[in-house]
Amino acid sequence: MNQINRRNFIGVSATVFAGAVSPSFLPWSVASRTSAATWDEAPIDPAKAELIYRTRAPRNGEPKLDKLVEHWVTPTPQFYIRSHGANPAIVADEFKVSIEGMVEKPLAFSIAELIGKFPKSSCTCTVSCAGIRRYEFNKVKEIKGVAWHEGPIGNAVWSGVRLSDVLKAAGIKAGAKHVWFEGADEIVDGKATFPFGGSVPLSKLLEEDSSMPAVLLATQMNGQPLLPDHGFPIRTIVPGYIGARSVKWLQKIVVSDKPSPNHFIADVYKMVYSGTPVEIDETAPIYRYPVNAALCSAEKQADRMHLKGYALPTGRSGCSISRVEISMDNGKSWTPATLGDEAGDFCWHLWSATVTIANPETDICVRATDSLGNTMPETVSWNPKGYLYNAWHRVPVSRFNI
Ligand code: MTE
Repeated sequence: MNQINRRNFIGVSATVFAGAVSPSFLPWSVASRTSAATWDEAPIDPAKAELIYRTRAPRNGEPKLDKLVEHWVTPTPQFYIRSHGANPAIVADEFKVSIEGMVEKPLAFSIAELIGKFPKSSCTCTVSCAGIRRYEFNKVKEIKGVAWHEGPIGNAVWSGVRLSDVLKAAGIKAGAKHVWFEGADEIVDGKATFPFGGSVPLSKLLEEDSSMPAVLLATQMNGQPLLPDHGFPIRTIVPGYIGARSVKWLQKIVVSDKPSPNHFIADVYKMVYSGTPVEIDETAPIYRYPVNAALCSAEKQADRMHLKGYALPTGRSGCSISRVEISMDNGKSWTPATLGDEAGDFCWHLWSATVTIANPETDICVRATDSLGNTMPETVSWNPKGYLYNAWHRVPVSRFNI
């Protein structure tokens, strides 16, 4: 594998990219520079300095919540980072993505070839980590894993080419059922070292329409080349699926009749309760995320509070948030919040509400319902990996110094 230097170190400084970005695709000569910091020393990208880092090696950071809901399209500096290992060092001029497995014609493309050969495609969609709100589970019983709050979520404009177009060129063989993705990073787990990977069922491609790719091979985020932390030079974006299926630093696509054997789809990102090998084996991987919402900022004015937050519908074509409701009496009564004007399939909805504070000891409860009738439950069961927490968002009024 000559395009990747396999030492664990952070690749090109993001400021190099930030200073060199062009409105079109990538400035390759600039992008092929690398730095030699070790993982432990890895400096935070200045473009991502505003995040709250839950861990620094690997880098896992989420934005301050009041900032998160200032914009419907999340500015890149506010977009969370979730990485299981160090950013790989990418020599962009030499980087190739291969398409292998159950295809008529195995292919390999440089990024320039990929974007030159296939039609450009863009979409706006929300990416959200399966571990979002995990700290709530920790209140019941401590979980090993990043103690995410409500911030590992963001809505961005992604551009690149469609996986379906690339697979058409390769020709899918009869009997194929899944597409695997493999990143260029190296995850170290005890003595084992392996790339981050995942897969999606080929049936996901049937969800595609002209405005929304089922899977995008994205080289740009918000009109600029991906930052190293977000998967430069190319990643998958899988609208409607948990963030783990949007594989960063994508270097291999494999068509198969079974799901990927990669650790991140075979063993983790599964909803298991006892965690026995048999249970893990028998449990399907998590693909979709559930309806969710959070209160992200509050401003006090006399005895009233102006609230703002986000709500995420289940990611499906034609599905949107139909209501967000606030309760100031522990769920006995609910009043509707106002939904923002900007919306889209596979995207979050921002919302606002004004409430009167009769009792400063109370909680503000938030729940959302999507147009398919999925509603956030009052409680959810603890699970040892701490995935998919989507119970009512409950915030004590006292957190806002009333
Ligand atoms: N891809 C690779 N190669 N390595 C990773 O660690 N993390 C996944 C996914 N893709 C990951 C990856 C997870 S769990 C999430 S939630 C998203 O990337 C986060 O994407 P972001 O860091 O760009 O926000």
